[in-house]
Amino acid sequence: MSGFVKVASTQDVPDGGKTYIEIEDRLVVLFQVDGDFYCLDDVCTHDGDLLGEGKLHGYELACPRHGAKFDIRTGRALTMPATEPTAVHEVKVEGDDLYVRIIDT
Ligand code: FES
Repeated sequence: MSGFVKVASTQDVPDGGKTYIEIEDRLVVLFQVDGDFYCLDDVCTHDGDLLGEGKLHGYELACPRHGAKFDIRTGRALTMPATEPTAVHEVKVEGDDLYVRIIDT
């Protein structure tokens, strides 16, 4: 398992917003909701679309392609057609800096 890597500043991810990052050859997307930050693979487990392009409502992210919803806190697939979770990664905030540790699943 790798360690934390500094990936962005907290100002790069506004509340309700997101930013895309490539880390360790993985595309991930960082979200902020109410001051907490979440990081998940930018991949829908249904058919591989870019999940981060979807709309976020609360903690639910809808895939832009067929509409499967995922919980950004856990990666869990909430609705069909996705049935498998997408990977979530650990986020740490130090001052204004955001760090991510990739969790291989
Ligand atoms: S590719 Fe995401 S729901 Fe089908």
